[in-house]
Amino acid sequence: MDELLESAAARAMRYLREIQERPVAPAADAIARLAVLSEPFPDGPSDPEQVLALLDEVGSPATMAIDGPRFFGFVMGGSLPVTIAANWLATAWDQNTGLHTVTPATAELERIALAWLVDLLGLPSGTAGGFVTGATVANLTALAAGRHAVLEAAGWDVEADGLFGAPPITVVVGAEVHPTLVKSLGVLGLGRSRVVTVPVDGQGRMRAEALPRLQGPTIVCLQAGNVNTGAFDPAREIVPRAKEAGAWVHVDGAFGLWAAASPQLAPLMAGFEDADSWATDAHKWLNVPYDSGLAFSRDGEALRAAMAVRAAYLPVAAVRDPSDYTPELSRRSRGVEVWAALRTLGRSGLAEMFERNCAQARRFAEGLTAGGHEVLNDVVLNQVLVSFGDPDRTRRTIAAIQRDGTCWCGGTVWQGRTAMRISVCSWATTDEAVEQSLAAMLRCAAAEA
Ligand SMILES: Cc1ncc(COP(=O)(O)O)c(C=O)c1O
Repeated sequence: MDELLESAAARAMRYLREIQERPVAPAADAIARLAVLSEPFPDGPSDPEQVLALLDEVGSPATMAIDGPRFFGFVMGGSLPVTIAANWLATAWDQNTGLHTVTPATAELERIALAWLVDLLGLPSGTAGGFVTGATVANLTALAAGRHAVLEAAGWDVEADGLFGAPPITVVVGAEVHPTLVKSLGVLGLGRSRVVTVPVDGQGRMRAEALPRLQGPTIVCLQAGNVNTGAFDPAREIVPRAKEAGAWVHVDGAFGLWAAASPQLAPLMAGFEDADSWATDAHKWLNVPYDSGLAFSRDGEALRAAMAVRAAYLPVAAVRDPSDYTPELSRRSRGVEVWAALRTLGRSGLAEMFERNCAQARRFAEGLTAGGHEVLNDVVLNQVLVSFGDPDRTRRTIAAIQRDGTCWCGGTVWQGRTAMRISVCSWATTDEAVEQSLAAMLRCAAAEA
């Protein structure tokens, strides 16, 4: 066993060294070689070292270098080395972190990490939370708490009686709501289309003056960090009005919530702390391995009411049982990596990482503008949208940048304009990597002119 694990560590270390230099996207021949894995199901056992070698030799070259310094696609982030190491150890522990009594070490690490996060993100003290797979499920989890609370206030027990015959809930979203939040609404029986949509401005921010008059059971969903522009909804204007009407306010802050952890960026988060629930990703900007999201609820009882289960064979601890706050009962101890990131970087290290990435996004915007290209958004956070001219030229330039391999960016259509998205959210992105990537973007754009 030692040899196998040492071999895995050596292979992983070599991989992490190689992705510093190799093209970010996997080569076509590496992808074609994946066909080697499509073999008949083996009749019997194989040597584990050979299985590992196959995985590394065929799998590693066919991966996208997401954990490298020059991946700017979607909003992904890398994995801080300490979080990879903590992940290895926690995997060896194999703790099923549902019940404190059974897995005290990992349950305690999650309880401590949660308290640190509530402090770091400026959330109300006593806020409860759960460690889930990502922002999609964090939105689902937090919205389930909101659904419980607004229906309880209307005299309805949604966990017991479901939604058939329940008082209707008005759900308010912005026109640039993330589609996964809308999916969560569908899963919760609140309907993907049965929403009141508030129009947005050119940055994708809800227009506060267009918020309808709210009455009855209501959930208002705000966004801290639009997936394209990085813009924040005007919480200071909307939250007090929603609260006055007795609404539950939920914040999708998949990456934007982390702005609260930096003195420089925290003004973007003003007013969001008065909401009722928040969702964020740790696998994005906290730079921990997949999958890792966080759901927070000011009202811990509402979250517990939505998530906790009891059975004679499940011991109940006197302290926080992690599964009381998550859709899953059994799950991996993803809080260990969150704890390791927080414990290693501390307040100043986290602020430095977030602020560095934002400065790097601004540098991309400045360099691309100087190169004659149009930046479509106000770069308030870590997201940059750039047009290289007409839609066809922009699409060709994105394809050329992806082929070139120095860096990787994806495309989008932002309010009718075809654009390339640059998302800077990795601990590994150095200023040198930004300059190298910027030069590649300008080179490819010139070639596609
Ligand atoms: C604002 C927002 N919400 C939700 C999500 C979904 O996050 P995940 O893919 O981690 O579930 C994203 C992903 O980029 C996002 O940007």
